[in-house]
Amino acid sequence: DTFDTSNREKYRPAFHHTPLYGWMNDPNGMVYKDGIWHLYYQWNPYGSKWQNLSWGHSSSKDLVTWEHHPVAIEPNGLGYVFSGSSVLDPDNTAGFGKDAIISLYTSAAASQIQSLAHSKDNGMTFEIYPGNPVITLESEARDPNMFWNAATGEWNLLLAHALDHEMLIFRSPDLKNWTLNSAFGKGLGAQDGVWECPDLFELTVEGSGEKKWMLICNINPGGPFGGSAAQYFIGDFDGKTFTPDKDADGNVPTKWMDFGKDHYATVSWSDAPDNRRTVIGWMSNWQYAAEVPTMQFRSANTLPREMGLFKASDGQIYVSTVPSPEVDMLRDRLVSRQSKLSVGKNPRKISLPADNDGICEILLDIDSRKGAPVSVMLSNDEGDYVDMVYNPSESTLTFDRRKSGVTDFSQDFPAVTVAPTFSYDDSTLKLRIFVDRSSIEVFEADGKFAMTNLVFPTAPYNRISFSADGGKADIRNLKIFSIKDVND
Ligand code: FRU
Repeated sequence: DTFDTSNREKYRPAFHHTPLYGWMNDPNGMVYKDGIWHLYYQWNPYGSKWQNLSWGHSSSKDLVTWEHHPVAIEPNGLGYVFSGSSVLDPDNTAGFGKDAIISLYTSAAASQIQSLAHSKDNGMTFEIYPGNPVITLESEARDPNMFWNAATGEWNLLLAHALDHEMLIFRSPDLKNWTLNSAFGKGLGAQDGVWECPDLFELTVEGSGEKKWMLICNINPGGPFGGSAAQYFIGDFDGKTFTPDKDADGNVPTKWMDFGKDHYATVSWSDAPDNRRTVIGWMSNWQYAAEVPTMQFRSANTLPREMGLFKASDGQIYVSTVPSPEVDMLRDRLVSRQSKLSVGKNPRKISLPADNDGICEILLDIDSRKGAPVSVMLSNDEGDYVDMVYNPSESTLTFDRRKSGVTDFSQDFPAVTVAPTFSYDDSTLKLRIFVDRSSIEVFEADGKFAMTNLVFPTAPYNRISFSADGGKADIRNLKIFSIKDVND
């Protein structure tokens, strides 16, 4: 109740989680308890650069409107409070009580050691375990991510052995005593940066019912478009060792959770209801996170997203990513609807909602009848634009933000990102696009890819236009919903 909610900065998101003020990086320690989604995050409450790292805390009943709470864990004699995870312990294996939230995080000073804390007041305040650290290693290791493994009846923990580019896998009966079992990843996947923020969980492959484990490995730098990104591996896990699937050539393929530049440190909620695997990511990139043109606050999180698995025509299993169903509640008014728009070389233009800074969700199917590339462009009267081009012959969607607005704060910001659209029976691509004041998220409607990019338009984008270069295309089922400012 002492928080100042008056932050009306131009680029402050309308419908993405963001701190009221101060610096934020990784979401972490997320746990669902008694109908509440708890979200902790790397927070500096005293300024908008990376310093004084604490666990900030927000909570939500619906994943889209957030209440902000006082800092949950503050730096102490063991150092900054880096990223970690939280679990419920209904069997009281750790002895802190059946109702406790138990968290593990990295205490970072000259070294990085793993610390335990627990909360008896539903995640508001934490008591630091006097027996800390619970894990000490010789080299840099951080971001402990633990979960109850029902198949083995033990806890598992992944720890990023950051500079060694591997994930260490531990197990424990009580969350305090951890045994190292194996290391995953040496020489596999993208290796150009440090490995950080792991997660590991089981999912069902859509259609076949097959169960597979997904191991998330955030990497920085070394992402597909420079800087930070989230790679993942699909495989099997027996409680001790993760065995990755191989492709037809016997290699372990590198796979990406998102094909934009601003999706990092993505991990999931523990104990989410209905078998959901809900994730959220930090919507920035270490290349320029401290330089983006905001002042009172820095960084927001992505929309909450649901993880699934699907088998593509190359025989590989990939993650599917769709906005969490709660995100539909953000829709305010249907401001535009077109069942079919035929487009050619000359752009067809449609206005975006003017009364709320163009903040909207856009749904559309792009049917490129002759295989011509189709451009979907957001623009304003200042000459800023974002050009998204679906190229059916290459099965790609590109996103060009080089002229999106303010881009000169970092040479790494102006960029074009590319997503694979996978093969389709027809050439239709169905998209959901979420436009906030300083971000655009593009989802293939079934989740086959996601793409997250920051943009800082000098004025809100006020129109969308469609064109097909060298052919004809139909835009079908276009719907534009204005979105409420839930951070107001
Ligand atoms: C990832 C990261 C983590 C670390 C945290 C520190 O962005 O570097 O590895 O725990 O940020 O703020």
